[in-house]
Amino acid sequence: MTKKADLSINFCGVKFENPFCLSSSPVGNHAEMCSRAYDAGWGGIVYKTLGLEKSFKVVMPSPRLSVYNYGNKKFVGLQNAEQITDRPIKDNIRDIALLKKNYPNKILISSIMGYTDEDWSELAKMSEDAGADILELNFSCPQMAHKSAGHRVGQDFHAVAAFTEVVKKSSKLPVIAKMTPNITDMIPVAIAAKEGGADAISAINTIKAITDIDINNFTPLPNIHGHSAATGFSGPSVKPVAMRFVSDLYNSKDLNLPISAIGGIETWIDALHFLLLGATNLQVTTGILRYGYRIVEDMIEGLSDFMIERNIKSLNEIIGKATEKIVDPSEFTTRYQVISVIDEEKCIGCGQCYISCQDGANQAIKFDPKTRKASVDEERCVGCLLCKHVCPVWDCISYKEVDTKNAKHAAIF
Ligand SMILES: Cc1cc2nc3c(=O)[nH]c(=O)nc-3n(C[C@H](O)[C@H](O)[C@H](O)COP(=O)(O)O)c2cc1C
Repeated sequence: MTKKADLSINFCGVKFENPFCLSSSPVGNHAEMCSRAYDAGWGGIVYKTLGLEKSFKVVMPSPRLSVYNYGNKKFVGLQNAEQITDRPIKDNIRDIALLKKNYPNKILISSIMGYTDEDWSELAKMSEDAGADILELNFSCPQMAHKSAGHRVGQDFHAVAAFTEVVKKSSKLPVIAKMTPNITDMIPVAIAAKEGGADAISAINTIKAITDIDINNFTPLPNIHGHSAATGFSGPSVKPVAMRFVSDLYNSKDLNLPISAIGGIETWIDALHFLLLGATNLQVTTGILRYGYRIVEDMIEGLSDFMIERNIKSLNEIIGKATEKIVDPSEFTTRYQVISVIDEEKCIGCGQCYISCQDGANQAIKFDPKTRKASVDEERCVGCLLCKHVCPVWDCISYKEVDTKNAKHAAIF
């Protein structure tokens, strides 16, 4: 048997066998699905958000999904127009209790969304009584029909603080506040959640977006009987935005709360990126919608192999390590400049680097039409690396760094 690294984490005082969790969505909709996810190896599940029928009329439109395809690459992002669960609360509470009975060592996080203080309190108590380990407060669904629900609450730090406090007073369970990315600065809202008593922050929920338009009838997608809306966007396309928010949260000295990262995680490398930016726990939806629960096997194996290779004994050794390198752009040094280096052997003579450098950079690439080889005019190169990024050949263009104190090169804009 191959050696496995210790992937266990302690998040909000709760031990997870690994950091990988389902995020709240249809991937964790009922007991049968969640059982299969636990069996596949997921360390925890954030159950599909619960609400009370008396407060919300849940609208589940059809069709409710639209994909963002780019070139011939399918599913680089996903737009959904779904709300919280439309299953009866009694069925979901029964399922949560059943899951905890059958899987006592797996972690179950109950995601809740109230409308009034009483709702939040009732949902917290019901979840705790059913055996949930942690509560996640959904302050972030972008398509709730109610004015005082979902991401509208998550944009109002007074409401976030007040509802978090209500939940903390109603239950002894640790509380995660789930943030909306539909806001410029997440920190004041996360701090409001902390003031209300939150034990952790999760981010991100989906980004409000429009993915596509049917040019035959001028209707954005999903086309819901002739209408559409800007609704939640997720998947690989949102990962850079999610990484920025997670890094902001981790770097905030005033916040200082553990983070559960969500947004475009599909592989162990995605997972590692978020750990390096400060996440302790990781959640996934779109990757599972696309590939199924089985992706967790590769995530566990990949992260475990990486840790063994690097002699990393615990994930705590790497959490937040990349944030040490993140500074304000005003602190960048200009003393060192890079210059592109083209490997003539690998150059296929397509001229892409030349075109991009001509029209989008500093006209530093020369192209010989006879030999069909590109070369670098080092005097003109400002080291933006556009040529390297557009080159279709992996590793054809690299770069060297020069100390501008001694060199004749300098940016010539
Ligand atoms: C179809 C769908 C339904 C979702 N429903 C919920 C929900 O009920 N509660 C919630 O907190 N987040 C919900 N989300 C958001 C996800 O939990 C997650 O925050 C988001 O999709 C980003 O992660 P991903 O890129 O791994 O999908 C939903 C996402 C999708 C795609």
